[in-house]
This record gives sequence, C-alpha cells and structure tokens, in this order.
Amino acid sequence: MRDAVQPVHGADPMVPSVLWVKSRRRDAPEVVTLEFEVAGGFDYAPGQFNMLTVFGVGEVAISVSGDPVERHRLIHTVRAVGPVSRALTELKPGQAVGLRGPFGVGWPMAEAQGRDVIVLAGGLGLAPLRPAIYRLLAERDRYGKIAILYGTRNPRDILFHRELEAWRRRLEATIEVTVDHADQDWHGHVGVVTTLVRRTDFDPANAIAMVCGPEVMMRFGAAALRDAGVTDDKIYISMERNMKCAVGFCGHCQFGPVFVCKDGPVFTNDRLRHILAMKEI
Ligand SMILES: Cc1cc2nc3c(=O)[nH]c(=O)nc-3n(C[C@H](O)[C@H](O)[C@H](O)COP(=O)(O)OP(=O)(O)OC[C@H]3O[C@@H](n4cnc5c(N)ncnc54)[C@H](O)[C@@H]3O)c2cc1C
Ligand code: FES
Repeated sequence: MRDAVQPVHGADPMVPSVLWVKSRRRDAPEVVTLEFEVAGGFDYAPGQFNMLTVFGVGEVAISVSGDPVERHRLIHTVRAVGPVSRALTELKPGQAVGLRGPFGVGWPMAEAQGRDVIVLAGGLGLAPLRPAIYRLLAERDRYGKIAILYGTRNPRDILFHRELEAWRRRLEATIEVTVDHADQDWHGHVGVVTTLVRRTDFDPANAIAMVCGPEVMMRFGAAALRDAGVTDDKIYISMERNMKCAVGFCGHCQFGPVFVCKDGPVFTNDRLRHILAMKEI
C-alpha cells in the first residue's frame, strides 16, 4: 500500500486554489525552484504532483520537490520546456499561481522499510525523488543500505548541489554523482548514471529501487537493476504523461484501464511493461 494524500479541495478537485510565490532560486540553466507559502499547511506523499496554473498561459503537472514534513513550505522545481513551464520559471516573488492537488500515487516508502534502497535519478528526475530522499534520511534506521545515484549531462545541470554534499557528509547513505560530459573543473565520475548501479553494494534479494529521469534513462536504469538481480516488482518508476484533469475524468493519460494520473505516476516496472504494451487512448 503506497501513500496518496487526497486533494485539498475535497468538494471539487477541478477548482484551483490561489497561492503566491514566496521565493525563486535558479538551480541549473532553464531550471528554477519555486517556494510557495501555504498558511494552512499542505500535506502530500513523496512522489505526488500538483497541477499548477499560470493565469492566462495554462496548466501543467509538476511534482512536489520539498520535504513533506515542512507543511508550510510547498516547493516545486520546474524546467522550462514549453510555454507553461517557461512561464512558471519566470514567476517572481509575490506573483500568483493556481494549484490543484496533490494527485497520484507516489514512491513506496512503507514497502521500502527494512530493505536496501537504491534511488536512481537522471537530470530533473532528482526533483520528484527529493521528498523520498528527505524521508529516507530522516527515518534512516528504518531502512537497510541507502544509495543515491544521480547523473546529469554535464556539471552545470546538477541540481541541489549543497544538499548532495550535506547528504554525503552525513555518511548515512552512498551518494554518487556522475556526468555524461565533464569539464576541466569536474573530478567526479564520468559516464551514464546506469553504470553506477553495478558499482554499488546492496542486496538485490532485499532491495527496492526508485527511478526517475528521462524515459531512455529509466529504461536502461531498470535493465541495469534487473541485471544486478532486482526483480521488476521492486523497481518503481515515475511515468510522465501529459495530464489534463489529473483525477481520472478526461482519459488524457489513459492506457487501457490504467490512468497515469490516479493509478500512478509511480508504477512498478512489471506493471509499466503491460501499460506500455497497451495502445494510448
Ligand atoms: C506526473 C508528472 C510530474 C511532472 N513533474 C515535473 C516537475 O517536477 N518539473 C518539471 O519541470 N516538469 C514536470 N513534469 C513535466 C511537465 O508537466 C511538462 O514539462 C509540462 O507539461 C510541459 O508543458 P509546457 O506547456 O511548458 O510545454 P509543452 O507545450 O507541453 O511542450 C513544449 C515542448 O517540450 C516538449 N516537452 C514537454 N514536456 C517535456 C519534458 N518533460 N521534457 C522535455 N521536453 C518536454 C514537448 O514535446 C514539446 O516539444 C511532470 C509531468 C508529469 C506528468
Ligand atoms: S489526466 Fe484526465 S484522466 Fe488522467
């Protein structure tokens, strides 16, 4: 059973609340982290997402990237890829957005207890995984070994630098960062993130993996985990599909009987293979 917090709206999940941007920080080229102040607090489970509206532009799905325990600070990390996401990255403190959510079923935090946990992130994929990492480290003694394996194209794209360093210093988890293309200042690993899996010490028979990144990275990541002995039902992947309603009404994200918005976005790899074999409606 995985965590899913119900939308705050209760009566009508299609009606957005209005929130104001409290702060904005650039984390990488084209990537901005926005903080919204939520007076009454905002509960969500790691891996859930919100629908954010930039008024006059449109609405998109964005995962929550903050710490679920910090109920008054709602954090989203956005990459500008099109009109709505770009408008989000250009918001300034004091400007308003519409928010519906939280939606979806997130990472398997309860199932991970007692197991070794491999967090495999590519590029912006670290953002939807960050709430899970906060929980894993805050409740460290509930899990076996924890490995956070993160890859980006180049050093400029690495998100949350300071936190990665802080997590590494705590010595409670293996933190490995790799880049596809190094520059002269980079002294770490070079190569795709999936190569880190075979260098990592964990017990595949008692491990669970959480994977998020570009689709190709997730495919190869799942294959590397399988090669290492992790079974598909213990490999969890977050699937990005265009969303409209986010509550299972419109069919926009539907594959056969499965709605990515309410049955996902996080699925086990064995389930995902069946979903991808279905024709998108
Ligand atoms: C459950 C879920 C969680 C998400 N979480 C986040 C998040 O935390 N942060 C975030 O920045 N985005 C996230 N996304 C992706 C985000 O919703 C899309 O990037 C957004 O919808 C793009 O909308 P747009 O109007 O800006 O661009 P569009 O007009 O929809 O797209 C413009 C161009 O960009 C391409 N494009 C669209 N999406 C992507 C993408 N993800 N990567 C690369 N190219 C793309 C399109 O193919 C098109 O060519 C999430 C999506 C889902 C379904
Ligand atoms: S987005 Fe409408 S059914 Fe999923």
